[in-house]
Amino acid sequence: MKLITISFLSKLLILQYFSVQCLSAQNFDFFYFIQQWPGAYCDSKQSCCFPKTGKPTTNFTIYGLRPNTNDNSSPSNCDTKSVFDKSKISDLIKNLEKNWPSLSCPSSDGIKLWSHEWMKHGTCSESELTQHNYFQTALKLKQKLNLLQILKNAGIEPNDKFYNVDDFLDAIQQATGFLPGIECNRDSTHNSQLLNVYMCVEVSGSNFIECPGVPMGTCGAKIQFPKF
Ligand SMILES: *[C@@H]1O[C@H](CO)[C@@H](O)[C@H](O)[C@H]1NC(C)=O
Repeated sequence: MKLITISFLSKLLILQYFSVQCLSAQNFDFFYFIQQWPGAYCDSKQSCCFPKTGKPTTNFTIYGLRPNTNDNSSPSNCDTKSVFDKSKISDLIKNLEKNWPSLSCPSSDGIKLWSHEWMKHGTCSESELTQHNYFQTALKLKQKLNLLQILKNAGIEPNDKFYNVDDFLDAIQQATGFLPGIECNRDSTHNSQLLNVYMCVEVSGSNFIECPGVPMGTCGAKIQFPKF
């Protein structure tokens, strides 16, 4: 009888262990860390509105930190109860205003954008990062990946000139060891231009990794790096 009870108990424990594992398992395999060139966003057909804090500096901006799975799905809105709380990131606001500004119209102070990003994407990495860590991680990654400098070192500057797509890819791969993904849009005269740069980051948010699949947007062979 005693033996039976023990084995029953241990089965129960095993079952419980696995269900807890399932519940707490992360539902993503890596992050896309995406930086955007504001010059391309702003001179497209849709145009942009500068945030209330004024024109952002001539630099890439953070576009997103998005959990993704290896089979290329992007979970979203994973925890509707985990609402965005500005007070949890009050120490990061200045830095976010500078590096993760909202450029959509109408002009805003960023809160709406960060709230949207947290609810849609951040909540899907809650098993790894708290709200504060999520935004801090994005800021740290941007600091780590100084794209403007990396490109400049390779002779690529935002001067309205055209460069081969491969020049961008090579420069970033040489500097980081990882092949980025690049996405383009078109300006009002239909020139293909650099819009977004994708890099992949492991689930803890600390290190860049090789992307399981690189999202190649619609870029012409030659793309413009517009002034901003
Ligand atoms: C651009 O952003 C990077 C990363 O945040 C920063 O290190 C660099 O100083 C900035 N460059 C300029 C010219 O502001």
